[in-house]
Amino acid sequence: MEFSFDVNQLFTDRVSVIEQRFGSGRSDHQDQIAEVVNELGKASAKAQKLTAPITSMSKLQSQKHQLFLLKDDEDRRRPVILGFLKVGYKKLFLLDRHGVHVEAEPLCVLDFYIAESLQRSGYGLELFEFMLQHKHMDPVLMAYDRPSPKLLSFLSKHFSLTQTVPQVNNFVVFEDFFLNKSAAP
Ligand code: ACO
Repeated sequence: MEFSFDVNQLFTDRVSVIEQRFGSGRSDHQDQIAEVVNELGKASAKAQKLTAPITSMSKLQSQKHQLFLLKDDEDRRRPVILGFLKVGYKKLFLLDRHGVHVEAEPLCVLDFYIAESLQRSGYGLELFEFMLQHKHMDPVLMAYDRPSPKLLSFLSKHFSLTQTVPQVNNFVVFEDFFLNKSAAP
């Protein structure tokens, strides 16, 4: 994904963590950051065939979510935004392996997108691993909001997460999520 302005000025690192307050106070920079986030949100919605984007700058500002943005700057003159991963804590009512209700507030994967032509090149894993380190998180302790078949395949391949525990909401959790939380014997 390319933009008419210099994304290197906005995002100095390979991975930038964008949250409520990000970037310089310059209003032109804020507008450009918003344009990047909004375009990524639209591309992700299209890739997942959603009717409307679930990621935008205004949503990011009103909800306490974090967006990890991956930039490729091997060619410093033509930097490219490769994709993003959005996470946030959510209070959820989940069912454990025994069907017992458990209230939890896990870190959730809310949106995840790598540009079409660059998928299956390892960028998603790079971004996901950065997030895990940044949050000191284990993927099995996370919940996944309406994961696409590609994300389920990604989690199976890279983290051996395969055994889901059926839920009545749109979130997917995997078996060991409940290891320390189960109310049942
Ligand atoms: N078909 C099936 N599996 C896929 C595909 C695909 N087209 N693309 C990636 N994967 C899975 C596979 O397990 C693949 O391994 P394989 O090639 O050996 O089969 C693995 O991911 C590859 O890992 P990476 O290269 O690190 O992943 P990638 O950079 O492609 O990022 C992502 C994964 C973000 C899911 C990307 O494919 C994508 O943007 N897909 C479209 C949007 C999407 O479905 N996002 C998830 C929405 S759900 C949510 O966010 C809660």
